[in-house]
Amino acid sequence: MARFESRIDIHSPKFAANRAHFEKLLAVLRERQALASQGGGEAMTRRHRERGKIPVRERIEMLLDPLSPFLELSPLAAWGLYNNEVPAAGIVTGIGVIEGVACMIIANDATVKGGSFFHETVKKHVRAQDIAWENRLPCSYLVDCGGAYLPEQDRVFPDWGHFGTTFHNQCRMSADGLPQISAVFGSCTAGGAYIPALSDEVIMVRGTARIHLGGPPIVKAAINEIVDSETLGGAEMHTRVSGLSDYLVENEAEALVKVRDIVAKLNCPRVADVKPMPAASPLYAASEIPGIVSKDPKTPCDARELIARLVDGSDFQDFKPDWGETLVCATASIHGHAVGIMANNGVLFSESSAKGAHFIELCNQRQVPLLFLQNITGFMVGTEAERGGIARHSAKLVYAVSTARVPRFTVIIGGSYGAGNYGMCGRGFGPRFLFSWPTARIATMSPEVATTVLADLRRQSLVRGEVSQAELDALADETRRQFTEQSDPFYATARLWDDGIIEPEDTRDVIGLCLALAAASTPRKTGFTPVFRM
Ligand code: COA
Repeated sequence: MARFESRIDIHSPKFAANRAHFEKLLAVLRERQALASQGGGEAMTRRHRERGKIPVRERIEMLLDPLSPFLELSPLAAWGLYNNEVPAAGIVTGIGVIEGVACMIIANDATVKGGSFFHETVKKHVRAQDIAWENRLPCSYLVDCGGAYLPEQDRVFPDWGHFGTTFHNQCRMSADGLPQISAVFGSCTAGGAYIPALSDEVIMVRGTARIHLGGPPIVKAAINEIVDSETLGGAEMHTRVSGLSDYLVENEAEALVKVRDIVAKLNCPRVADVKPMPAASPLYAASEIPGIVSKDPKTPCDARELIARLVDGSDFQDFKPDWGETLVCATASIHGHAVGIMANNGVLFSESSAKGAHFIELCNQRQVPLLFLQNITGFMVGTEAERGGIARHSAKLVYAVSTARVPRFTVIIGGSYGAGNYGMCGRGFGPRFLFSWPTARIATMSPEVATTVLADLRRQSLVRGEVSQAELDALADETRRQFTEQSDPFYATARLWDDGIIEPEDTRDVIGLCLALAAASTPRKTGFTPVFRM
């Protein structure tokens, strides 16, 4: 046992001041999440219900097992964009348990611009598929989708990662043996039509579900045929005539029960099949974390104090504690699942980089998943660091992070600046999940450093010409404003640079769930073909 003894005085004025500051950040987070969860708002929800339709979050609740957790992904996607008229990017994605099986749910919110796809919608959809794929989760699509949001078509349709990728993913996931079930509740036009058409099994609700490659206006424009939507692509027609739908149901509740029935017979591993080690709660409460994280981002806190509040029994093995001290490497367990934690305790030096690379090798060898707790200004700079080979040593860490053979998870708890973001498994390095705390800051450098760097560059280029102090001051103001705005965690989560902002108190449960999913996801044998709908 290596139980950690906390040195935090939870009655100190410093603790109270930190906590008060953090509570304000959490209040903003909760308020924004509550707003986003209302989808298109009261009037649109009323209209939706009047049509006999159930709001998307209620559908999900009805679909999941009672008491199933729902790990919602990127609930603040598109926050602050499009005048905030596309809450949650018009789509709800997340992981929950259906008939004992952990599943990915991808559900359109038709109260938000008819469930049509904006740039962030398609990004969120693709990200959910990627997570499902990597964690080997069956996908349940709750489809109610007007296809591409046409004014945004150049940011939704043509490129890799756009609409086409969602269908490419569906085919490849199917070929990889992952079940995909679609329940259709509303209109699926054009791109939207392929979500069910590429699914293993399709359920349609009589009277409201419609699937057509081209809706009535497109049909009229293309071939001058005048037809109503129900005749063209209604549930009855597709179940009894075209064969696109496999089950006709009378209402949404029945559709959701049908999805559950299908999942029950998928022959997939059950959540209960995973048997973690016995787990004790941490000795110190996670609710203390807001009092520990300094309200001044420049004042670091001891990462061990945070780890002690996340891991089972506050018990962790501190690897090489007296060498490369700015990177804490610790083996522990969370909810009974073994984990290797790498947490910043200052700038990364050559020693800390080499230590991190060594630790990743250990975790690879022992098949222990890795959790990165990022709070990093970057790798050390300066003559001494360069002569000591910081570029070479930091590259070792980047190599080890990139080629680790175990599942990796990242939580950005503070700064995520420059190459530190890379060395600590930032988004570009494909961690299975990446979450942020409201204290996260993602940018090449801090606003203060960027202001100095850009002012120097400007001065140098203007040696050849004239520059006034007023001009330099304006540049400094603009740079500070830009870097402050762009390193805000809500700016990041709106653009899907993470999988959501989570609270410190929820972090243990969220990571525990991610570890449980990783433990359950045994790779499938190769050589499968997709389910071709016949
Ligand atoms: N592109 C742009 N805007 C769209 C859209 C799309 N694909 N789908 C819906 N919208 C907009 C509507 O213009 C409306 O905007 P407003 O609130 O600013 O007035 C809002 O979303 C709600 O749409 P509405 O038609 O009132 O909702 P509905 O529930 O009655 O119908 C649809 C939903 C999806 C059946 C219907 O909007 C529709 O047919 N859309 C076009 C589908 C299409 O042709 N897609 C092809 C994409 S390639």
